[in-house]
Amino acid sequence: MSIDVLYGTESGNAEMAAEEIAAAVADARSLDLQDLDPDDLSASTVYLVLCSTYGDGELPASAQPFVDGLQAQKPDLTGVRYAIFGLGDSSYAESYSLGGNRLAECLDALGAERFGDFGRHDASSSEDLVASAIAWARAVLADAAVAAA
Ligand SMILES: Cc1cc2nc3c(=O)[nH]c(=O)nc-3n(C[C@H](O)[C@H](O)[C@H](O)COP(=O)(O)O)c2cc1C
Repeated sequence: MSIDVLYGTESGNAEMAAEEIAAAVADARSLDLQDLDPDDLSASTVYLVLCSTYGDGELPASAQPFVDGLQAQKPDLTGVRYAIFGLGDSSYAESYSLGGNRLAECLDALGAERFGDFGRHDASSSEDLVASAIAWARAVLADAAVAAA
């Protein structure tokens, strides 16, 4: 099972967390969403997707072209499995972590299958982003292994 850790970021936090997950998990690599063509999503890869939120609940800059591509190309994502982790800040009370939600909605609408818990990191909390992201990745991958057995 190959694992791609995809990230959508504006100021680098999601990229850093994705790279640390890729370093901690065997057979994983990290990839910026802006460098991935939606047509390349494959049922033979498991995707861990990290996505922050910017503006007023918008997608971060590096995720926007990928989502635009999903909406334009409308690939059939049946069989594509992904887990998602949203980065945000709860001081943005009305738009907390909406970027991750938006990305997940786009993937779901095209038939992708989400597994594991929806991870979150709140920049206003005292939780360490990298530690939280790695713990989430290990937990969702354990879920995926159980589901595949
Ligand atoms: C200008 C700006 C706007 C933001 N807007 C939101 C928002 O609407 N909702 C939210 O949950 N977080 C918001 N955040 C917080 C970021 O999502 C958070 O800091 C995250 O860790 C950034 O990750 P990144 O560096 O990968 O982009 C905002 C941060 C900045 C600087």
